[in-house]
Amino acid sequence: MSRYLFLLLYFISFNSFAFDYDPDNGEEINEVCAGCHGEYAQGGKQGEYPRLAGLPASYLAEQLKLFRHRKRPNLPMDQYIDDRQMPDEDIYDITHYIAAIKLKTRLPPIDKTAPDFNAYDRLLASHKIMQIPDIKGDLKHGKKLYRRECSNCHGRNGFGSKKKSIPPLAGQYTAYLWRQVKLFHKKQRIHDRDDPDDEDLLDDFTHKELADIFAWLSTADD
Ligand code: HEC
Ligand code: HEC
Repeated sequence: MSRYLFLLLYFISFNSFAFDYDPDNGEEINEVCAGCHGEYAQGGKQGEYPRLAGLPASYLAEQLKLFRHRKRPNLPMDQYIDDRQMPDEDIYDITHYIAAIKLKTRLPPIDKTAPDFNAYDRLLASHKIMQIPDIKGDLKHGKKLYRRECSNCHGRNGFGSKKKSIPPLAGQYTAYLWRQVKLFHKKQRIHDRDDPDDEDLLDDFTHKELADIFAWLSTADD
């Protein structure tokens, strides 16, 4: 019996530290983000603005705090993320809101003559479609390298890990991924959280090797 009491107390105390998720507040804040990242957090301008939809909430929150503390450069977002503009409760709501957005990679096949066909619904659904354009490269080589060198952390098929708070690389814009590689090289962003002083995880890869990995990743969401 006492074990249950302990569990109950633990549950109550744990929850009093967490914020209650308020989806309406999340939706409202998203109107600001949508100006750059799109209404469905799908990103835009070929990766000038990354896709955020479906990324782990904890990862999104960590990045917002890195931006806030200027530990990861992001001039365009500076004005939106200081403590007053975006208190921690808001970070909780917006990151949970965005993490829950599901984007499809293609529309389901349709029968326009079916009695329940609705062109407007179809149009709305098409806005939530996102697929990374396939880029050229040695896909076999890229997949092999990816599986050996990246999949441990970024997941077997490139979709990241919610549990480990690691972002997906599949379904993310290629131009954005390259820009992050440059930031990692310049140490303006830290790739390996457990070993921040070590050289970057990607320093040993040639441009061609990374290009092949990114080429395979661009097909991983097909
Ligand atoms: C004025 C444009 C702009 C607005 C508004 C904006 N962002 Fe961004 N955001 C960017 C740019 C540009 C980047 C990419 C920076 C880079 O390349 O490193 C980015 C990157 C991010 C990232 C990092 C993604 C990753 O995979 O690491 C997160 C998280 C993010 N934004 C969240 C938000 C949220 C939440 C909002 C709304 C509160 C928001 N952004 C509003 C421009 C914007
Ligand atoms: C030891 C685990 C680990 C390995 C191995 C690893 N990564 Fe990462 N990667 C991470 C973590 C953690 C992050 C998020 C860093 C942060 O919090 O800012 C990340 C972020 C990234 C990003 C930025 C994504 C974004 O949304 O901004 C890119 C690009 C990337 N990794 C590429 C690679 C590639 C390519 C490989 C294989 C050659 C690789 N990583 C191997 C842990 C790893």
